[in-house]
Amino acid sequence: MNNNRLRIAIQKSGRLSKDCQDLLKQLGVKLNLREQRLIAHSTNMPIDILRVRDDDIPGLVMDGVCDLGIVGENVLVEAQAERSGGTQNAEVIKLSKLDFGYCRLALAWPQELGPQDKSWFEGKRIATTYPEILKQYLQRENINASVVMLTGSVEVAPRAGLADAICDLVSTGATLEANGLMQGDTILESNACLIQNPNLSDNNKLALIEKLMPRLKGVKQAKE
Ligand code: PRP
Ligand code: ZN
Ligand code: MG
Repeated sequence: MNNNRLRIAIQKSGRLSKDCQDLLKQLGVKLNLREQRLIAHSTNMPIDILRVRDDDIPGLVMDGVCDLGIVGENVLVEAQAERSGGTQNAEVIKLSKLDFGYCRLALAWPQELGPQDKSWFEGKRIATTYPEILKQYLQRENINASVVMLTGSVEVAPRAGLADAICDLVSTGATLEANGLMQGDTILESNACLIQNPNLSDNNKLALIEKLMPRLKGVKQAKE
């Protein structure tokens, strides 16, 4: 991999992938996105696109493996909480909030239990992919519940007997509906955002970012 090229991490497959690819196109970044390749080289700018799991994007940018990343704030906040207090770099520069990828991190429980208030969670097990954000919420609300970390299929946890409730992302609500879950409090609202490694010092790369930012602003305004 050529170190002179600006490296941007995006989600390989998932809610943000299509919007990320469209955004790059609107910014004038021509790509040759071929099938399962991890890296795509731009054909008209010194840019390489790394297609990875969204959960890996904050770390890649914090560590400077990638210069920029497009990631949901939910994933960013969780990664920063996970690294806080440790020795690893947890800083990123948020260059821009993007107008896609809106979702909320919310609590949910089996519909047949009916509406519940916060006190119901006392002593319960809650499955989530966002243990740090959930723990902070529980602490804030003074709820003693245990957190079950799952990296996927969180919505089946109650039915599988792995947890009493879940804390997961809700976008359209279709996943909760399909799994017979009732939505409760929102813990965090999130959009996609563009982040940068704070130690980036390569002048050519910084100049390229300077050139792209007004375009990004233009793209966002055109959609308003
Ligand atoms: C989230 C969440 C649900 C789904 C909810 O997953 O985990 O599976 O989206 O969306 P809905 O309300 O529109 O049904 P995401 O796409 O972020 O992928 P990931 O969990 O693999 O990161
Ligand atoms: Zn994910
Ligand atoms: Mg999911």
